[in-house]
Amino acid sequence: MTNPTETDAWKGLQYHCADFKRDDFRLAQLFENQDRFSQFSIQHENLLLDYSKNFASRESIKTLIQLAQEMDVPEAINAMFAGEKINTTEDRAALHTALRIPVEENSNPEIIDCLRRMDAFVAAIHSGEWQGYSGEKITDIVNIGIGGSDLGPAFVNEALSACAINELTLHFVSNIDPAHLDDLLVTLNPATTLFIVSSKSFSTLETKENAEAARKWLLAHNESISSVEKHFIAVTSNLDAATDFGIASTNLFPMWDWVGGRFSLWSAIGLPVALAIGMENFRSLLDGAYSMDKHFQTAELGKNIPVMMALLSVWYTAFFDAHSHAVIPYSQKLEQFPKYLQQLTMESLGKSVSNDNETVSTKTGNVLWGSAGTNCQHSFFQLLHQGTELIPIDFISVIKPTSDGSNAFRRHNQLLANSLGQSLALMHGNSASPDPHRRIIGNKPSNTLLIDELNPYNLGSLIAIYEHKTYVQSVIWNINAFDQWGVELGKKQAALLFNALESESVDFDLDNSTLGLIEHIKNQR
Ligand code: F6P
Repeated sequence: MTNPTETDAWKGLQYHCADFKRDDFRLAQLFENQDRFSQFSIQHENLLLDYSKNFASRESIKTLIQLAQEMDVPEAINAMFAGEKINTTEDRAALHTALRIPVEENSNPEIIDCLRRMDAFVAAIHSGEWQGYSGEKITDIVNIGIGGSDLGPAFVNEALSACAINELTLHFVSNIDPAHLDDLLVTLNPATTLFIVSSKSFSTLETKENAEAARKWLLAHNESISSVEKHFIAVTSNLDAATDFGIASTNLFPMWDWVGGRFSLWSAIGLPVALAIGMENFRSLLDGAYSMDKHFQTAELGKNIPVMMALLSVWYTAFFDAHSHAVIPYSQKLEQFPKYLQQLTMESLGKSVSNDNETVSTKTGNVLWGSAGTNCQHSFFQLLHQGTELIPIDFISVIKPTSDGSNAFRRHNQLLANSLGQSLALMHGNSASPDPHRRIIGNKPSNTLLIDELNPYNLGSLIAIYEHKTYVQSVIWNINAFDQWGVELGKKQAALLFNALESESVDFDLDNSTLGLIEHIKNQR
């Protein structure tokens, strides 16, 4: 293992970044190269990455690629696909990519069997062969899960709503706030509602509490314990806990320790998506991701979309002191993408100890945020244009409209024009303005990802880009992208404080802030 800051490439980049920090440097001057767009863009099938509006010359890219080589990125890519135990702190492989290998080529019988069972289940629900306790067809599906067991399916369900078969209404409940589940339950008919308890561990507090509350609600309407078998299924690697809960063994779908929660959309955790859009479309989502896997494995580093995006992120974090990264999909259907990416990137890259057990000597994962354009132009774009932070942006646009309403093409062109207009304005600014308050300095870098059409295949590819980008960043920073030990402590503290809230007195040491807050809560009640 290597410390990235000790590589020759890092030292070169440290020196080289000064070229772009000179007062007289303008991003726009890079376009004196008439071929810059073709030289600084990569197309894979229906996706195009334009990374030309970045602080990057040919020399920068060459040195960033050298950094990837010195940090053994090609070897790390092979290690992931080969199923090596790259999640070293948990002694596990990270083989979410195996879930996308087409059945004809897939040598893992568990994956094939799981897909076969998903096929049968989705067909039974759609046809009405699966019936609730009163013999009626299921009309509503409630996914109870949190983190990776919620964000991926919820995002994809919304993104691909145009492909919905419209047999079912899907709902996603994650928060332990009782309002989340309770507000939904009052709208549902228990006889026609099916709950999917999605939890790799089946021990996550929020999911357990919500699943128990849902079961109580069901039993309050139909006391027969067999109704639980007709109205609950689970996706989990903890089969015993799910069985203890009352879920029939035939209603259990597997998860494996080699699939991380935030990479689990492609497993049976994606069942809500498969129910909404059908298995054919779900397989197409897998195929799109598989195609990106092949690109990631085989394209040379400089023509590799995830690799180039990762290198640019490292570049800005380390050498331009960028504290955050914005992802702005100019697509209402992709509105939840930044939320999904927050778990993917911040749980993966929020680490400060290296794979060599040392404190890292450079900044690692930063804050990812964003929301759908054009809406956000009317909220936080002011800061992007005239604030003091340098925030690299990914603009994501879909070329074909996702609606066929009246004038959809015209409105969609407005949408595209706004996306292009923002990246242009951010790059050029209007530094000639005589009024300093109206002056926009420009020189703000961005990537643009253009997707031909928002369909399952292309969406699978898009998500896989960010998964692989995240992995490459972790390899360069020499950190483990696949564990998340940082989330444990807060959970333990919450368990202690829950007891303090439920009992008369607090019998353990607490700082006076937390104690004061607990007493205030109790007094106000
Ligand atoms: O607390 C974080 C986390 O472990 C995530 O990594 C995971 O996606 C989420 O909780 C839910 O976990 P589970 O699927 O085991 O309920």
